[in-house]
Amino acid sequence: MAVDVARTDLTLGIVGTGLMGRGIAQIAAQAGVNVLLFDSREGAAAEARNSIRDILMRQVEKGKLKAADVEGAVGRIRILEGLDGMAPCHIVIEAIVENLEVKRQMFQTLEGIVSDGCLLATNTSSLSVTAIAAGCRFPGRIGGFHFFSPVPLMKIVEVIDGLLTEGWVGEALTALANRMGHTPVRAKDTPGFIVNHAGRGFGTEALRILGEGIAKFYEVDRIMREAGRFRMGPFELLDMTGLDVSHPVIESIYDQYYQEPRFRPSPITRQMLIAGTLGRKTNRGFYRYTDGVAEQMPVRPLPAARPARVWVSRTDPALHAQVMELVTRLGGAIDPGDRPSQDALCIVMPLGGDATTVALAEGVDPTRTLALDTLFELSRRRTLMTTPVTLPEVRDAAHGLFGGDGVPVSVINDSAGFVAQRVVALIVNIGCDIAQQRIATPQDIDHAVTLGLGYPQGPLAMGDTLGAMRILTILNNMLSFYGDPRYRPSPWLTRRARLGVSLLTPE
Ligand code: NAI
Repeated sequence: MAVDVARTDLTLGIVGTGLMGRGIAQIAAQAGVNVLLFDSREGAAAEARNSIRDILMRQVEKGKLKAADVEGAVGRIRILEGLDGMAPCHIVIEAIVENLEVKRQMFQTLEGIVSDGCLLATNTSSLSVTAIAAGCRFPGRIGGFHFFSPVPLMKIVEVIDGLLTEGWVGEALTALANRMGHTPVRAKDTPGFIVNHAGRGFGTEALRILGEGIAKFYEVDRIMREAGRFRMGPFELLDMTGLDVSHPVIESIYDQYYQEPRFRPSPITRQMLIAGTLGRKTNRGFYRYTDGVAEQMPVRPLPAARPARVWVSRTDPALHAQVMELVTRLGGAIDPGDRPSQDALCIVMPLGGDATTVALAEGVDPTRTLALDTLFELSRRRTLMTTPVTLPEVRDAAHGLFGGDGVPVSVINDSAGFVAQRVVALIVNIGCDIAQQRIATPQDIDHAVTLGLGYPQGPLAMGDTLGAMRILTILNNMLSFYGDPRYRPSPWLTRRARLGVSLLTPE
């Protein structure tokens, strides 16, 4: 069987015309597809068409669309009074309530209405496509077509192959996505598909960092935004999404993967959910909001103190040279010896290690030691990490020195992997494991993450840029420090790092 998606009379049915259904209807109608809309709530489908017209007419006012094209698109959308009207459809997309039993019932009813050659798709974000299709006569014609909100702006759609989905279904949905100007990515029917699976590292590791008392939430956000170049910090993102949405997703993916430690939820968000501090929508989450504007968070002032001299770890010659150059540029007096002198500030540069472990391993005085995170460029924000016994005057002198050129500095408590190393290593590792499990191709994983999550790079390209071996070292050192299988490296990462090849190398 096949559906010719290029045909000019292609007819697409959409059941459920809420936020998602109307977005899909808009892009389909704009792509010249005939759209039939049905919603069980009276008047909802007509409202959806009116809202599409309003949205498109605003584009006309801005000079981005022609009025005639908008009339053409809206004219291609027909409202159905009953589900029976779906009979002539070549494809039907379901975007109703996220409930397995209700969706199953819907597909079984649709099977009695449409022709045998009609493709049926679900826009579910968290249910199993296989489970939705299980009660149907022809489960092979049912696939997942997972859009993101707002549909016209989020140019990505996951095309999901259930266990019994036939190949032509994914091909037709891929072609339809292309026709509508969206980027399709193909994924196996697994919890969270690609985007909601790959997104687990960012928030959950940030929550662990917060739970361990390593840094304030806003300091974590600053580090991830400025050093890591993420569009938003993890806590800003949690506040934007709302914990009523994100906490259940965190728990659901954790449970669906049978308590996979990489996805372990945090009691912090659970408690906030119970308290009703959900984020922006309740004017209080991690941040407090007034008229939609987040409160200003404190910045630790730059101390006037400077160290008498600075000794830089020699464990890694390249890093030693890089940090020596920076210290010199900042006007710091270099302590050139193999071993630090008594009054020197000692700077160590661990990968995945903590300041205490590294200070003891290098035999330097932990009271005079701070660790500097060198994984990212040092020109946007610098992270310094104390040991539990670093003297306050040494800490302040280090802060004064490394912030001396106006680059902001975050001073955090001891952590195996600082802040950014930990979060990024988790993101790369989870991306690698999605590839290892053959849920999607490496290219599709990176496309899905950049378009669906807005990360500066996909997890695999991110690993390549930062160095797969460095990511592997971070994870192994974190694993050894914490003894938590959460940090065990994916075989996909381990092999490619050892071979010295790109993480995008397929198998
Ligand atoms: P929504 O609540 O805005 O719209 C759902 C619509 O379906 C409503 O208009 C409702 O009247 C209608 N409906 C409910 N049961 C029906 C039935 N039995 N027959 C016909 N119509 C029925 O929901 P939204 O956000 O558009 O979500 C729809 C689906 O898309 C869900 O499966 C959701 O998980 C999924 N999704 C949602 C995303 C989001 O960001 N909101 C993102 C990706 C997927």
